[in-house]
Amino acid sequence: MPSMMKFALPALAAAGTAYAASCSTSATMTIQNAGDASALASCSTFTGNIAIATGTTDDIVLDGMQKLNGDLIATNNSNMKRISAADLEQLDGEMLLDGLTRLVGVDFPKLKNIDSIKWNALPNLQNLGFTAEVEQAKKIDIQNTALRSLKGINIEQIDTVFIANNGYIDEIAMQLGNVTKSLTLADNNKNVKVQLPNLIWASNLTFRFCGSVEVPSLQSLNGSLGLYNNGFETFSAPNLTSVGEAVALVANENLSNITFPMLTKINDNLQIANNSKLIEIAGFPNLKSIGGAFDMSGNFSSVETPELNSVKGAFNLQSTDNVTESCSFYKPLHDKKFIQGGYKCEGKLVDPAGQGHTGTKQPGDKTGAATSLSAVNGALGLAAMAAVLLL
Ligand SMILES: *[C@@H]1O[C@H](CO)[C@@H](O)[C@H](O)[C@H]1NC(C)=O
Ligand SMILES: *[C@@H]1O[C@H](CO)[C@@H](O)[C@H](O)[C@H]1NC(C)=O
Ligand SMILES: *[C@@H]1O[C@H](CO)[C@@H](O)[C@H](O)[C@H]1NC(C)=O
Ligand SMILES: *[C@@H]1O[C@H](CO)[C@@H](O)[C@H](O)[C@H]1NC(C)=O
Ligand SMILES: *[C@@H]1O[C@H](CO)[C@@H](O)[C@H](O)[C@H]1NC(C)=O
Ligand SMILES: *[C@@H]1O[C@H](CO)[C@@H](O)[C@H](O)[C@H]1NC(C)=O
Ligand SMILES: *[C@@H]1O[C@H](CO)[C@@H](O)[C@H](O)[C@H]1NC(C)=O
Ligand SMILES: *[C@@H]1O[C@H](CO)[C@@H](O)[C@H](O)[C@H]1NC(C)=O
Ligand SMILES: *[C@@H]1O[C@H](CO)[C@@H](O)[C@H](O)[C@H]1NC(C)=O
Ligand SMILES: *[C@@H]1O[C@H](CO)[C@@H](O)[C@H](O)[C@H]1NC(C)=O
Repeated sequence: MPSMMKFALPALAAAGTAYAASCSTSATMTIQNAGDASALASCSTFTGNIAIATGTTDDIVLDGMQKLNGDLIATNNSNMKRISAADLEQLDGEMLLDGLTRLVGVDFPKLKNIDSIKWNALPNLQNLGFTAEVEQAKKIDIQNTALRSLKGINIEQIDTVFIANNGYIDEIAMQLGNVTKSLTLADNNKNVKVQLPNLIWASNLTFRFCGSVEVPSLQSLNGSLGLYNNGFETFSAPNLTSVGEAVALVANENLSNITFPMLTKINDNLQIANNSKLIEIAGFPNLKSIGGAFDMSGNFSSVETPELNSVKGAFNLQSTDNVTESCSFYKPLHDKKFIQGGYKCEGKLVDPAGQGHTGTKQPGDKTGAATSLSAVNGALGLAAMAAVLLL
């Protein structure tokens, strides 16, 4: 196959730098080797997609190009070690790097503006060579790399962030102010320290297997907040006032202190489950309304939401401990129809669980004995019943 260098001949641009040329290709231009790449050096602007052939073994150097109006694609190449573009400032397309098993260098020292980054299966890529720091992007999806940090990506506003299965990333800090669709950080290093000091508004936020999460400025969420399997003991959203969809805190094994001091409204469910060390819930002092279900199960001794006066969905509070006092607050809310859905509030259960679960009373608990008694009523003689009642 001849090398496919079919693109419009460079035309000297009237304005700009002394030697600025615009090049374009209608189809995707495929680069086979270092020579093909250096042939583009005179193209300060390139319009069209650039793909690196799967068989390429050379390092690919795209110096000279300042702007790429298209995608930069390298997939399924087990030999290429480095890709760089010393002058590229803007990439109006996707940088798709997928299945590059030997890749060790991605060096774009001037890149600041990119439409999207989609990286996957880059097991030898440890460092991001984004010296100038990428400040603008719509979408970032980075999975299965050996990256140590995301230093070099410092976006203020973005639609989607998905960073998952990067086992060595132990710090994620960004200037992010807004996330218009979703931010998901999942299954990276389990000690990963997440700091989003300027994040004010987001649609969905999901944190799985994070070591710590700080969102001091967060004020509102249009979507949901999900915290799953995280290692931290404390979670606080000191400025969060409303959540457009749900709040879920599930299976955070060390979580013992949650604080949402300003939160007044959750439009969908509030779910808290399988956080073994969460004993007291006092972190919702201003929560007034829940548009979906109130669903909590765990080892609680006390659950307090003193301002709550509206639950549109079901109410479920199940605990291994005695929650009689907490239930004495919620029962009247149900009686007054402030809790509109089904109602269950029960402590001293062996197996507290989510809404819809019946629950088994701990042995030796009097109320439990009565419940099981009525269930087997017909099968027992009077003497046996008396014996049970005397337990
Ligand atoms: C890469 O290879 C995998 C499996 O061999 C294949 O499924 C995938 O479509 C390839 N990707 C591209 C972009 O060629
Ligand atoms: C976030 O979004 C709001 C409303 O859309 C906007 O006013 C604000 O400037 C944005 N902040 C940043 C840091 O982009
Ligand atoms: C937000 O999360 C919810 C629940 O997981 C999902 O239904 C919704 O589509 C998500 N929205 C966005 C913008 O990702
Ligand atoms: C919390 O919100 C208030 C008012 O909405 C704002 O003045 C304050 O700066 C915010 N705090 C942080 C840490 O962002
Ligand atoms: C977020 O919610 C606000 C008010 O609840 C609404 O005005 C805005 O359009 C929503 N944004 C998105 C992206 O859904
Ligand atoms: C919970 O804390 C224990 C003891 O500090 C620690 O060994 C464990 O890794 C933590 N769990 C998670 C998910 O980080
Ligand atoms: C819980 O966390 C909040 C905020 O981080 C803190 O102010 C409070 O002292 C903590 N409570 C306990 C009992 O540790
Ligand atoms: C809590 O853990 C139990 C037992 O592992 C599991 O069956 C249940 O689905 C978990 N609950 C949630 C909400 O994930
Ligand atoms: C209660 O705590 C025990 C012991 O830590 C744990 O095994 C169990 O999963 C916890 N139950 C719930 C519902 O969190
Ligand atoms: C639970 O605590 C209440 C007082 O708060 C007490 O009256 C009740 O007997 C306790 N129930 C059990 C089963 O220990």
